[in-house]
Amino acid sequence: MPETLAAPGAPPAMAQDEVGLLAPVYPLPRLALVSGRGTWVCGADGRRYLDFVSGIAVNALGHAPAGVARAVARQMRTLVHCSNLYANAPGAMLASALAGATGYERVFFCNSGTEGVEAALKFARAWARSRGRATAGGAVLAFRGGFHGRTAFSLSATWKPAYREPFEPLVPGVRFAEFNRVEALDAVLDAEVETVLVEPVQGEGGAIPATREFLEALRARCTALGAALVFDEVQCGMGRCGRLLASEHHGVRADLVVLSKALGGGLPLGAVLMSGEVAGALAPGMHGCTFGGGPAVTAAGAHVLDRVRRPGFLARVRRQGRALLGGLAAVAARHPSLGEARGLGLLCAVDLAAGAPFDPPGLVAAARDEGLLLVCGGERAVRFLPPLTVSSQEIALALERFEAAVTRLEKKGD
Ligand SMILES: Cc1ncc(COP(=O)(O)O)c(C=O)c1O
Repeated sequence: MPETLAAPGAPPAMAQDEVGLLAPVYPLPRLALVSGRGTWVCGADGRRYLDFVSGIAVNALGHAPAGVARAVARQMRTLVHCSNLYANAPGAMLASALAGATGYERVFFCNSGTEGVEAALKFARAWARSRGRATAGGAVLAFRGGFHGRTAFSLSATWKPAYREPFEPLVPGVRFAEFNRVEALDAVLDAEVETVLVEPVQGEGGAIPATREFLEALRARCTALGAALVFDEVQCGMGRCGRLLASEHHGVRADLVVLSKALGGGLPLGAVLMSGEVAGALAPGMHGCTFGGGPAVTAAGAHVLDRVRRPGFLARVRRQGRALLGGLAAVAARHPSLGEARGLGLLCAVDLAAGAPFDPPGLVAAARDEGLLLVCGGERAVRFLPPLTVSSQEIALALERFEAAVTRLEKKGD
């Protein structure tokens, strides 16, 4: 595939036709994409872009993955949807594979990350009530910088005030604590807390890994208090950080784990994994999802899980992650406008230094003009989320294009 059809640095053509049509909840106009293969996408402007966004950590196997297309096409000709009034074979197969791969005993399927978090918070509450433990408030402890979705319960636990405050009042009882600060936990993690919700690696917050000490402290305190520990692995799970679950890096187990994004190979699929004890608190009618666990999407999920679990796949993600992070740290060391490079596996980010003559959206736009797609994260970072199948040459080219974008912006700011 040619690397680019237009001169690097030329601004891309942005789609104008949506501007008066779509609800303006996304910045419009946007770059229109028409096709993709592996780590590359082709814009409606005829340019090819190296995609280090992957549909925001979704396209784990790259664009247009042939195995997913085959599995889904076969299933589309057999049984596409049947609702949860009935069982379907791909759904059962994926549930069994997820349970076997993670050791969590039960699975609930849904369509997205926010639905998964919503379900997990409801299940945790049901578990607390089944033990007669729930207090009137049923507090949830979440963390600064955390992102959990846009529906009411998950939005209540999402840190960024600009996302949350326009819709308050939301679900009451959510407290926020400092991420990765064990010593701050005692002041907020008490008997009132029914659930602790945390990302083992904060994604939208800027690729910030939780420390082992922090996750262990949360586990120990939840166990002591009888609170549910929920890992939101919507972004960091399914191999993105070089282990099937990011929390495996630290050997800490939750009571519930939420997966989505990469799980469906590009199709909308979410899953809540839970212990048998949590599942014991649930009963028919307590929760549900019309499309959840449908045969077409779970056929895709089963293929993705099978690929990610093949020998060598996750070791390669860890290797490529080290190469990417090492390269980013080297670029950052050469440019005063860049700060810390961090991440785990292929969930990486670079901060802009204080006083940088450009902001993260400006850097994302400049990288796009160089033929590299990136996405903002945290307060002042850009994220690098390539497909898990990214090659060493693609990483090298992305680093080159990223540095070219930074250099151009630094020159402009002189
Ligand atoms: C950690 C985390 N949780 C939940 C969500 C919400 O997922 P969705 O957009 O599929 O609802 C996201 C989305 O970025 C996420 O990164």
